[in-house]
Amino acid sequence: MIEVVSNKFIELFKQKPLVFKAPGRINLIGEHTDYNLGFVMPAAINQGIYFAIEKSNNDFSTFHSLDLNETLTCDIQQLNAGKGWYNYLAGVIGEIQKVGKIIGQLNLVFGGDMPIGAGLSSSAALECGFTFAINQLFDLKLDKIEMIRISQMAEHNFVGVKCGIMDQFASMMGIEDHVIRLDCEDLSYDYFPLNLADAALLLCDSKVNHNLASSEYNVRRSQCETGVQKLNEKFDEVKSLRDVSIDQLENSKELLEPIIYKRCKYIIEENLRVKEFAEALHLNDLSKAGDILNTAQIAMRDEYEITCPEIDFLAKEASGMSFVFGARMMGGGFGGCTLNLLKKNEVAQFEEQITSAYEKEFSISPEIIEVHPSTGVQDLS
Ligand code: GLA
Repeated sequence: MIEVVSNKFIELFKQKPLVFKAPGRINLIGEHTDYNLGFVMPAAINQGIYFAIEKSNNDFSTFHSLDLNETLTCDIQQLNAGKGWYNYLAGVIGEIQKVGKIIGQLNLVFGGDMPIGAGLSSSAALECGFTFAINQLFDLKLDKIEMIRISQMAEHNFVGVKCGIMDQFASMMGIEDHVIRLDCEDLSYDYFPLNLADAALLLCDSKVNHNLASSEYNVRRSQCETGVQKLNEKFDEVKSLRDVSIDQLENSKELLEPIIYKRCKYIIEENLRVKEFAEALHLNDLSKAGDILNTAQIAMRDEYEITCPEIDFLAKEASGMSFVFGARMMGGGFGGCTLNLLKKNEVAQFEEQITSAYEKEFSISPEIIEVHPSTGVQDLS
């Protein structure tokens, strides 16, 4: 992939580019907790997006998407919102300019080896890789946390998804063979060795594209905010759902509409699941870890209501297999992938069984993707 983006760049611009890679991410546990200032456990993965970039000698910039074979030109000093992938790039440039950094015109070719819309956060990979590349190209001296924030704000303000910080954090900060345990309130984090030994992590892509999820995503976020507002009337110290205990929630049921109660319950318990999951991993108790994944799946289905029939089917089938420790939907929701923790020597069996069951039920072939925790954004030049 590095050669492919570089060669295309040389063909289009007759220049030798700098080359970067930004990875997608998985999340072991802690879904939708990030914007509620709670806990998450993501990792960068081996699949990602590659960037070939250099300054432009023209008074305009040219971006080329290899995967879609589309080229766009624009003047980065006068950006307007557009559509599709352009908004992620324009968003990054806009947010870099907002923090007072000056950049010039540039040429870019990018392309990935990861599925788009599958819940692996190709969007964060695009934002983080582009921010990192521009930082290097124009020597902006942004630190990684500033670049993470810029990438997140690009998604808020240009793409329109009020996402949390998990995906950008994982794409920028990942390290090989480790998951990140991140506290989204103060961004304190540690790296947790993922010592799976005889187990494997497999993603099963339902092929249900989760693009339509963005409006529902923002709805969930605002339902949580409503919950916080109501609970804060009773408990002064409550500034986010991470400050609320289950007892406090149960004792405040009459203050909350049933749907808001359900959303809050999910988030509070999901935060607890992150802590329990970390303990289970620490003790190498994979059956406990698997049970937590299964419980999280049911909670996403019934309380946060972000799954879909295809995902529910995949998770249920998987968790019913004797060699699977646990399975749940991963990411923003409404499609994308399930994350499956299973015995390593049963990977082929899993693939065969889940594929045939899913094909039979929905006439869709799922894609099985094996993932390994990997390095965050890198300069490959
Ligand atoms: C999307 C968002 C993240 C996070 C997840 C759900 O991937 O970008 O910030 O909220 O959904 O955990």
